[in-house]
Amino acid sequence: MNDEKQILIVGSANVDMVVKSERIPERGETVLGGVFSQHQGGKGANQAMAAKTLFNNTAFCAGLGDDNIGREYLSYLKGKGADVSLVKVFKGAHTGVALITVDRDGKNIITVAPGANMLLSPDDMRAIDFGKFSHAAFQLENAVETVFEGLKLAKAAGCVTVLTPAPARPLDDSILKFIDYIIPNEIEILQIRQGCASMEEAANSLIENGVGNVIVTLGERGCALFNKNGKKHYPTYRVTPVDTVGAGDCFTGALLAGFKRFGDIGTAIKFASAAAALKTTKFGAQSYAELGDVLNMMERERP
Ligand code: RIB
Repeated sequence: MNDEKQILIVGSANVDMVVKSERIPERGETVLGGVFSQHQGGKGANQAMAAKTLFNNTAFCAGLGDDNIGREYLSYLKGKGADVSLVKVFKGAHTGVALITVDRDGKNIITVAPGANMLLSPDDMRAIDFGKFSHAAFQLENAVETVFEGLKLAKAAGCVTVLTPAPARPLDDSILKFIDYIIPNEIEILQIRQGCASMEEAANSLIENGVGNVIVTLGERGCALFNKNGKKHYPTYRVTPVDTVGAGDCFTGALLAGFKRFGDIGTAIKFASAAAALKTTKFGAQSYAELGDVLNMMERERP
């Protein structure tokens, strides 16, 4: 399945400052780390670049600061051929920055200073012609009122809407009917549905209150899809991870690309699982495998 309409990702663009370390420090502890590196990141940009790499026809809407890292980010996105017509540069703001430690198993901790990401406004959403897009994805590294306005407008325009609820916060029930797919990890689903004792209870509560589909990402255990038909588990592909930063974003961006390429949710999930597994084998949030490698992985192993 393929059509003329673009995928739209509305979301954050951060510069990731990453220290590779044997282990993640305890609170109050200093750990002598290893190599430092700086990469383009941010949940929105990571999703957009995954969708662009694996489908191509993708637009990105974000807020950057008018600083050197913001200018570098914009020319990086343009250099990758991304549609940046909806990227705004905010005067006097700094570009989002993420401080990240990655341990020997590829696991991470992340703190984000969102800067210009928070300046993207509901008015900026009202300025978008959502009718141009088949799918619209959001995360929670922008102001929540902006994300909610975007979800409502995208849904009204007929887009398939996707929310990655990270960083997690409780979600008001009134927004749930505007979400076709919500993609939390197993920690986030309990944070957005406080009071629920299990992933299953939280997923069912989201569906009862209007969400179309819940996909809980489970790391090396794959993911679980919940909808009105019940629960289905999808295992993932076996790899040796070196860096899991951006793997969840890769999953979402690739899922959107998979919807456009294959049309059905099961194949799209397998495609996204293969792309996300391959991402973890490389360092850097946007170190994505090319389409051919993702398709090969799907052929080689069939979870
Ligand atoms: O999901 C990974 C991303 O979270 C990183 O790229 C970082 O920028 C933060 O937004």
